[in-house]
Amino acid sequence: MHIAVVGSGYVGLVAAACLADLGHQVICVDNDENRIACLLRGEVPMHEKFLPELIERNRGPRLQFSTDLAQAARRSSAIFIAVGTPPAEDGEADLSFVESVSCDLARAGGGSYKVIVEKSTVPVYTSDWVRRVMLLNGAAPDYFDVASNPEFLREGTAVTDFLYPDRIVIGADSSRAAAALREIYRPMLDGSYYRRENKVPEPDGVRLPPPLIVTSAKSAELIKHASNAFLAMKISFINAVANICDGVGADIEEVCEGVGADSRIGQRFLNAGIGYGGSCFPKDLLAFRAVARNCGYDFRLLDEVVRINEEQRQRFIRKVRRALWTLKGKRLAVLGLAFKGGTDDIRESPAIALVRALLRENCAITAYDPAAMGRAREVLPAGVEYADSAHAAAEDADALLILTDWEEFAALDLERLRARMKYPIIIDGRNLYDPALMESRGFTYISVGRPEVYGIRPAAATAPQRRVLRPAVAGGELPKAS
Ligand SMILES: NC(=O)c1ccc[n+]([C@@H]2O[C@H](COP(=O)([O-])OP(=O)(O)OC[C@H]3O[C@@H](n4cnc5c(N)ncnc54)[C@H](O)[C@@H]3O)[C@@H](O)[C@H]2O)c1
Repeated sequence: MHIAVVGSGYVGLVAAACLADLGHQVICVDNDENRIACLLRGEVPMHEKFLPELIERNRGPRLQFSTDLAQAARRSSAIFIAVGTPPAEDGEADLSFVESVSCDLARAGGGSYKVIVEKSTVPVYTSDWVRRVMLLNGAAPDYFDVASNPEFLREGTAVTDFLYPDRIVIGADSSRAAAALREIYRPMLDGSYYRRENKVPEPDGVRLPPPLIVTSAKSAELIKHASNAFLAMKISFINAVANICDGVGADIEEVCEGVGADSRIGQRFLNAGIGYGGSCFPKDLLAFRAVARNCGYDFRLLDEVVRINEEQRQRFIRKVRRALWTLKGKRLAVLGLAFKGGTDDIRESPAIALVRALLRENCAITAYDPAAMGRAREVLPAGVEYADSAHAAAEDADALLILTDWEEFAALDLERLRARMKYPIIIDGRNLYDPALMESRGFTYISVGRPEVYGIRPAAATAPQRRVLRPAVAGGELPKAS
């Protein structure tokens, strides 16, 4: 099929590359001329596994880049809207980009039937509004339908998530639109994509072919908001339990193993840490809260999810303070700036918020992130120093903070690291290491919801009030980054 994807960000570019890889003829459109110029030069403007390879092998007739929305729309029978839906002042989603694209699509005309697909995360009723705006701007009522096809990809594993999803949701109020979307995803639904030799590698434990869920447009819009709200709630819930573990000397990982063994709950997303961030959960929670408010339901549970998430960062700062006594003038190595491992995205990153808070305490920060330092430099104050490796960041540090769950941060050479640091103190906001292992390597190691260990015990006068030490074990396996 001929498809246009409007927006070449984390979702649009991944969707365009994957749809091209499924065999469609795709034009990816953006009104950011620099971004399109960069894509035309062969560069990929974001860090995402498999994306450069997919773009490269489909570039040409199957995958083109353009700033000309009207032309792309006229030659396409499906148009995916994948532009940003940032939060407005009051928490509602700002849909002005979606509205602007809808007007442009109506004015572009085209003369043949098209399905307009909401790929952006939008509040319920947006499909009605897109239709209304298009009609007001001259689109012929019988020549288009608006459908919702929410995207569930996660940055860092976006390509794999797109091609091996847990489910494909099609929200369409006409059988014609539903049929068009079924046709687009046919290579995945009939399994033919997964039989190809050059398919993107299959992750463990996926269900193939992915289940298709066909709903009304409104239900599909709600599925996306409810899913993100539930996942954020799962994170805040387990962080709250981790805080209780901290208080009573239990181990959140043991608790999660027991809780997650219940098939109704499951192990995934039970990761205690410094809270969620990124461009989706924070804004989608606010937008869903606003949707509820607008229909007369006071969804206060969501307020509490947000509050726990914010508090989690303050608790982390308190842990740093407790480990170092005073913060002013302390030299801190910061590992991780992206909001999660595998991406260069720093939008609403807990790591960035924590670096800012520590700078306000007059700490000196040397940061390292495998992909996000370029973007971080644009938003952080000039005083922050950047290192070209985790070990370089640790040089002469009073303490090292792990703020992003990059896999490489779970496999550091601990002997080398210790030798470079002024004091062997690690405060791990992502629970990447086994406390017993860290103790055996001589580190003071403080994480979230797990026993704190003191490889070198502080003198009695400076010892913290409560400590639960697990027996030291020599060696041991590093857990993989979650
Ligand atoms: N990032 C994620 O992990 C993720 C996952 C699922 C869903 N989503 C949703 O997908 C949507 C897009 O997210 P993103 O992270 O890709 O955003 P993004 O900011 O990375 O990309 C949006 C792109 O749209 C372009 N754009 C804006 N207005 C335009 C217009 N009128 N014409 C053409 N291009 C235009 C921007 O220039 C930008 O390149 C959001 O609604 C988001 O909530 C994001």
